Amino acid sequence: MSPVLSQLAYLLAAVCFIVALKGLSQPRTARRGNLIGAAGAVIAVLTVMLTPGLNHRGLILIAIAVGLLAGVIGAYRVQMTQMPQLVALFNGVGGGAAALVALIELSKIDPAEPGTVVPLVATAFTIVVGSVSLAGSMVTFMKLQELMTTRPVTFVGYPVAYVGVLVIAVAVAATVVVIPSMALGAVLAVLGLALGVLLVLPVGGADVPIVISLLNAFTGLSVAAGGYVLENTLLVVAGTLVGASGTLLTKLMAAAMGRSLLSTLFGALRGGSTLGGTAISTRPVKSASPEDVAILLGYADRVIIVPGYGLAVAQAQHTLRQLVDVLLERGTKVDYAIHPVAGRMPGHMNVLLAEAQVPYGQLKEMTEIDPEFKQTDVVLVVGANDVVNPAAETIPGAPIYGMPILHANHARQVVFMKRSMRPGFAGIENELLYEPGTTLLFGDAKDTMAKLLAAVKAL
Ligand code: TAP
Repeated sequence: MSPVLSQLAYLLAAVCFIVALKGLSQPRTARRGNLIGAAGAVIAVLTVMLTPGLNHRGLILIAIAVGLLAGVIGAYRVQMTQMPQLVALFNGVGGGAAALVALIELSKIDPAEPGTVVPLVATAFTIVVGSVSLAGSMVTFMKLQELMTTRPVTFVGYPVAYVGVLVIAVAVAATVVVIPSMALGAVLAVLGLALGVLLVLPVGGADVPIVISLLNAFTGLSVAAGGYVLENTLLVVAGTLVGASGTLLTKLMAAAMGRSLLSTLFGALRGGSTLGGTAISTRPVKSASPEDVAILLGYADRVIIVPGYGLAVAQAQHTLRQLVDVLLERGTKVDYAIHPVAGRMPGHMNVLLAEAQVPYGQLKEMTEIDPEFKQTDVVLVVGANDVVNPAAETIPGAPIYGMPILHANHARQVVFMKRSMRPGFAGIENELLYEPGTTLLFGDAKDTMAKLLAAVKAL
């Protein structure tokens, strides 16, 4: 392929990535956006493979085949609720790859040649930031997979260790720019790995997805800097897109959880826990059978569904949609209230309900639906807890204090579908469970939803 043609192909791939991002911003167009992005990636890989004089084509093909196999098997086998871990893993590998490429490039740059300072700075940057992303992502993976504690981990002297490693890393990076060598580059990579581990250790389980998004932005930046070193425009464009979108997503997620990025990363050092306890309450609550709840729903004119993480765990979204369809046929006004951080990843509830063919028009964002709770007869909370927990407004110091919530407590009746009195992800009690207008329908949501559907149909 001629250089002009390959530049044109790269341009086409870059356009695909930008159009893909646009598509991903709306549930309606997300699937198409994803496919366009994948098409862009295929164009980019094909262009590289057709570059004249490319070495080790066979090895590259074997690596692609191994990567494809691992990616396809992983994507098919992973549960929807494990998606953040998968993203963390893929993201970390991307950062690690960028760091490795930069390490190899280091041996090819001659500092005696004019104009090599900026490429060397970019190379050192890619090595450190890519390594931070690799190690940090692996720790986030282990936390989310519960291969290690999900609680914040700190130790005496943590700030000194963190700042110490950071200062040494900057000093080694500066040395690499003056005397580039693979050995120094490897030391820099090890320091980057240490920084990545130290960055993520103090982050509590509930905040880990925010850090995944931040590390994603880091990977993007390291890939963009790597693209500069390799003089590859597409890598610069793709890396910048990932860096910018990761940064925006990090900001949005932190805002939706009511905390700043700094308190997300280092809150545990100030003694504030980002995750509460897991004690199970024994206080009395009002519980009911599916038949009782069906009668409540049968008399209601206005019903709001609040889906949460438990809906995804139970995989009850299809039965829930059928229940809503029956209620709509009976003339009840029903909507789904979507909290921005319900579930365990951005857009979790949108994806889950889209899978059950729920019309997008029935999904109402938090700000839009929240004022309507006051005029609502029954709120059906399906596997959600923290997103309706009034402690976010009433208990300063609670791990979710400051997070905007759905005011289910303003409705006439609230029905919680959950299995036990265990708290939600933040690990704190929900006073709404004990209110006189609240009823609990205990059981796995898939099972109880099927019984509720049958009872509503029988009314
Ligand atoms: P949670 O507060 O975690 O509550 C989930 C509820 O589902 C629990 O009460 C649990 O109670 C119930 N549950 C679990 N499995 C169930 C099943 N099979 N059947 C019925 N119920 C089941 O969920 P939420 O309200 O969606 O809040 C999300 C939380 O995750 C927030 O704290 C948020 O900050 C955090 N978070 C979200 C994100 C994003 S981006 N979405 C990222 C990081 C953290 P039982 O165990 O008693 O059944």
